[in-house]
Amino acid sequence: MITFDINGQEVKARPGWTVLETAREYGIDIPTLCFHPAVSASGACRLCMVELREGSWSKLVASCIYPAAEGLQVHTETERVRNVRRWVFEMLLAACPASPEIAEMAARYGVEGTRFKSHNPQQNCMVCGLCARVCEEVVGLSAIAIVDRGIHKRVGAPFAKPTDVCVACGSCVTICPTGAMQTLFDSVRGVPITALTQLV
Ligand code: SF4
Ligand code: FES
Repeated sequence: MITFDINGQEVKARPGWTVLETAREYGIDIPTLCFHPAVSASGACRLCMVELREGSWSKLVASCIYPAAEGLQVHTETERVRNVRRWVFEMLLAACPASPEIAEMAARYGVEGTRFKSHNPQQNCMVCGLCARVCEEVVGLSAIAIVDRGIHKRVGAPFAKPTDVCVACGSCVTICPTGAMQTLFDSVRGVPITALTQLV
């Protein structure tokens, strides 16, 4: 077992665990959006930032992708962590103004609004990739993927070509943390599956 500290409490992690997994084992709260235990972590949303301290030195890391290591001193509620968490929530609120899930979570952490400009009031997908990862890693189909780059990055069919491999299992809807996949499915309810797969 790997022994380290979270908020001054000694914790033990199995080899291969991340800081986030260890914190969850001990009931220590760290907010996450793009993490789900069923699929690999990607570090996309940066909401799970924690502070690692050693003497006067410290750095912020994404706990969902940071491996547990002997002797780490992790802090989840320092001023620096709260500050970066607020910034991340504000950026997410601006990027996905149509997601009540993000707004509710932000409010739970005391963030009720954003200083950043929103470019699309309908947007609720934060392009975290959870839907694509569950399709590939759990369902084994890769019917959807994250396509394009930069500000054009979005969920789509691989190579932007219509696909008929979707079996409509609903895993992407279930795992989506923002309600974006549900919105998409609601907008095409009743449409034959071949047409549906051309929309994503
Ligand atoms: S649809 Fe949902 S799960 Fe997929 S990338 Fe967008 S926010 Fe993430
Ligand atoms: S939960 Fe760690 S980066 Fe999103």
